[in-house]
Amino acid sequence: MCGIFAYLNFLVPATRKEILEILINGLKRMEYRGYDSAGLAIEGNTKDSDPQVIKQTGKVAALEQEITVTPNLDMEQEFSVHAGIAHTRWATHGEPSCLNCHPHRSDPKAEFLLVHNGIITNYKDIKNFLAKHGRDCESETDTEVIAKLMKHVYDTTKAKNHSFREIVELTVQQLEGAFAVAVISRHFPGEIVATRRGSPLVVGLKSQSKLTTDHIPVLYSKDQRGLLTAPSPRPDGDDLTEYHAIGPHREVEYFFASDASAIIEHTNKVIFLEDDDVASIKDGSLTIHRIHRNVEDSTIREVITLKMEIQQIMKGNYSSFMQKEIFEQPESVVNTMRGRVNFDNNQVILGGIKDYIHEIRRCRRLLFIACGTSYHSAVATRQLLEEMTELPVMVELASDFLDRSTPIFRDDVCFFISQSGETADTLMALRYCKKRGALIVGITNVVGSSISRDSHCGVHINAGPEIGVASTKAYTSQFISLVMFGLMFCEDRISMQERRREIIQGLKNMPEQINEVLKIDDQIHALAQELYQQKSLLVMGRGYNYATCLEGALKIKELTYMHSEGILAGELKHGPLALVDKAMPVLMMVTRDKVFAKCMNALQQVKARHGEPILICNTGDTETEAQTEKFISVPPSIDCLQGILSIIPMQLLSLHIAELRKLDVDCPRNLAKSVTVE
Ligand code: F6R
Repeated sequence: MCGIFAYLNFLVPATRKEILEILINGLKRMEYRGYDSAGLAIEGNTKDSDPQVIKQTGKVAALEQEITVTPNLDMEQEFSVHAGIAHTRWATHGEPSCLNCHPHRSDPKAEFLLVHNGIITNYKDIKNFLAKHGRDCESETDTEVIAKLMKHVYDTTKAKNHSFREIVELTVQQLEGAFAVAVISRHFPGEIVATRRGSPLVVGLKSQSKLTTDHIPVLYSKDQRGLLTAPSPRPDGDDLTEYHAIGPHREVEYFFASDASAIIEHTNKVIFLEDDDVASIKDGSLTIHRIHRNVEDSTIREVITLKMEIQQIMKGNYSSFMQKEIFEQPESVVNTMRGRVNFDNNQVILGGIKDYIHEIRRCRRLLFIACGTSYHSAVATRQLLEEMTELPVMVELASDFLDRSTPIFRDDVCFFISQSGETADTLMALRYCKKRGALIVGITNVVGSSISRDSHCGVHINAGPEIGVASTKAYTSQFISLVMFGLMFCEDRISMQERRREIIQGLKNMPEQINEVLKIDDQIHALAQELYQQKSLLVMGRGYNYATCLEGALKIKELTYMHSEGILAGELKHGPLALVDKAMPVLMMVTRDKVFAKCMNALQQVKARHGEPILICNTGDTETEAQTEKFISVPPSIDCLQGILSIIPMQLLSLHIAELRKLDVDCPRNLAKSVTVE
């Protein structure tokens, strides 16, 4: 949901062309976060010249094109210190237009320029306040008020000689809602200030020499005058610079981004900012300040070395990131299980929750809370988790969970499943449960994300960066993570040992079986050719396969814009059967599990209404295959794992239908990957 990117080079000479390239590439890496419009701002050619702001509606490529026709850009001019900010937008307030596009300016002279990800909920009050002071907004966005308020603070407190950071601090104290912002100002050339609350923000550090420290302390602004106090141990004297990540005499480059994947091609050394951190770069030194100090707050921010590789965020020879991510699944599921499942002695250890497992076993109930595809992974594993834990298991959509103000107790264990770890609804549900004393378990893919940091314990699903907006490999890895949790929970129960053994064997076979499914891609492509002009597709199944129907229908909807519904076959005769006739395309999941006979009944009911369902069934099940003309066979697995294999044909089918319809597979219309707004 919007991506922000900023770059500052200090004593590392760079031409304007190079600086623009860095900003544009940063935006391209984050395009999945929003692609309604893009924009950037760079400092002027000289101290007194105007900053350059370039904006364009549409994707980053359109902005790149716009740069080529922008007059007066001296591309070869070299800077040893230069600050630039950039933004890719998913519109919330105001349509995608150049006026609403970021960066937003404080005034026609653009004294302050900023990019923002999030939503300012009290923007109307601030707008009214600004209007009373003769500062009218030009756009329909909530963001513009931040820039205008910054100038108001600057103008009205001039006598106090505030630093850039202090002005930003004073401004953001007035904001309500969620934000990550990066700001530049012509009053403070060669400086950037960035801060966050509720939206992600990471700082990348690239130094010509080795970093002198693996952490930096948080400094506290004692009061509105912004005096510095350092946490203990206090550095000697007033020279705080030795405590900064990188001293001011080094050649350094700093990056700010909503997502580490935009930084990784430059450096793997990053700091994940916490809510209310204000990071400021001045004279080449980075400091992190906070206004208030809570007792439980950490007093340092660690410099983390990311393990992510640049190839992981490149498309390679694939036609889209989505295709790449579907085909990565044999490997990503191995990474999810690596070091956790011991296939020789049937042990499963999840390092991130093992210290809490006794507490979890004593709980009143387990709640699994998530949105979209992540929610479906909980639906897919609910039955197994009920079986393994013998506890009440509730599976909740985060938005609905919050709307209902669902009662939560101290002895509840609440799981929050999120690929991005930043989804606003899920994060708010997490905070709601944490406040009520429940144990919080995060199941996330993005290292350092808000959900992973706000959880008491959790599991990183280790699927690797997922860039395609439609989630694929994260789903199968979330599925496996939840299965592993179930297996770990009941490791001591004698009566479960046989069942545990068969599931662990099933997990062992999974990568090879996923490979088998991927081999029938051509067959699925042929099916897509038959279906791509249809208006609708019903996906039916029950038991363990119900989640596959929901998830398969979601993939079809979001990628192909066709109407699609995942229908519980048990509910067919209670309404949906009325949709069935000769013309309605129907896909049915009929695999050999406990509800096989019931699925066969549903199949007969559909056929009796002249429906001609396409089946997803098990390889070698000739009896089921004989029921229809069209079927897709997937290798048989243990009942509770079958959904990992049967979702893959649905992922491929939606990919091919979208391609045949000439749609942008990685960036479906109106959507964004990381939904950081309610
Ligand atoms: C669908 C999809 C979304 C996400 C949902 C939650 O393909 O990707 O439905 O699953 O927005 O996102 P995360 O998992 O990041 O919380």
